[in-house]
Amino acid sequence: MRTTLLALLLFLIPAALAQELVVYSGRTRPLVEPLVRAFEKETGVRVRVRYGRDPELLAALAEEGLRSPADLFWANGSAALAAAGRLGLLAPLPEELRARPAAFIPKSGRWVPLSLRLRVLAYAPGRVDPGALPRSVLELPELKGFSGRIGWTPGYASFQDFVTALRLLHGEETARRWLLGMKALAPKAYASNTAMLLALASGEIDLALTNHYYVFRLLKGVPEGAYEGDEEEEGDETSARAPEGAVAIHRFALGDVGNLALVTGGGVLRGARHRSPALRFLAFLLSPKAQEFQARSVYEYPVVRGVQTPPGLLPVEEALRLGPRIDPERLKDLKGTLRLLREVGIL
Ligand SMILES: [Fe+2]
Repeated sequence: MRTTLLALLLFLIPAALAQELVVYSGRTRPLVEPLVRAFEKETGVRVRVRYGRDPELLAALAEEGLRSPADLFWANGSAALAAAGRLGLLAPLPEELRARPAAFIPKSGRWVPLSLRLRVLAYAPGRVDPGALPRSVLELPELKGFSGRIGWTPGYASFQDFVTALRLLHGEETARRWLLGMKALAPKAYASNTAMLLALASGEIDLALTNHYYVFRLLKGVPEGAYEGDEEEEGDETSARAPEGAVAIHRFALGDVGNLALVTGGGVLRGARHRSPALRFLAFLLSPKAQEFQARSVYEYPVVRGVQTPPGLLPVEEALRLGPRIDPERLKDLKGTLRLLREVGIL
């Protein structure tokens, strides 16, 4: 009897230990922690999170290889996930999980998108007639009247991803001409999107190329610290606010590269010791509850149809149709983009 009990205990202990999950997160704590807590409560799985920036975590994963304690890589951008896939660090995901997001699923099948950011043109409604704004971002260099009044962030990852998409979808020559055409308009370069949008709100510029959530963040505010460590935004005034109506969003025609969707996502490590809770966590992040939370807390678009978006954000179905359909893993030639930006004298 005693031996049976002992055998049973020995059998149960590893099972209990297996109810743990290690996440490497390129996303920031204020977004991740509430979701992790909700998942722990719902499943009884204990989650440990290592925070860092995408490139830093990718380097750690590459270094640790199959010995990595990480089970899941939750990244801020698709580039790091694509790179992890190419390095053979990610395991293929089951079809049922891959089928959950409505779009932007990478062909590699090694990670799933978890939310979307859209590139947009922000403008000052008091000074700009939205009817005069172009249907394609490619026509932006023709707006000679806005010379010296356009803002952009050439050093920022999302801007560079946009240039990579421009090169991929329209060719190197068109991308070069667009950059030179923009440069001829003497745009103002900003080190951060928040600083640029504050400049837009205060009348320093009239138009700004940015990501949609920076506009919402400026108009509606964010939870304390929600953007700390988000790309170059570190040290920014997280409390920077502008009155409703100071800044608005112009969207280009459906499918235009100016509406490029940038995805965040997650994948399970090939060497994961806790594969099943890792898959469960991804499924949880794709649940309507978690998708709604991301939309409410950091104004990112859900990737799952039928999820409610907060007031001001487009319905999911519309947001998903706006940008060009492109496998997010194809936005990988950052080196080529940096070369081009240097060649035309923008970086
Ligand atoms: Fe950002």
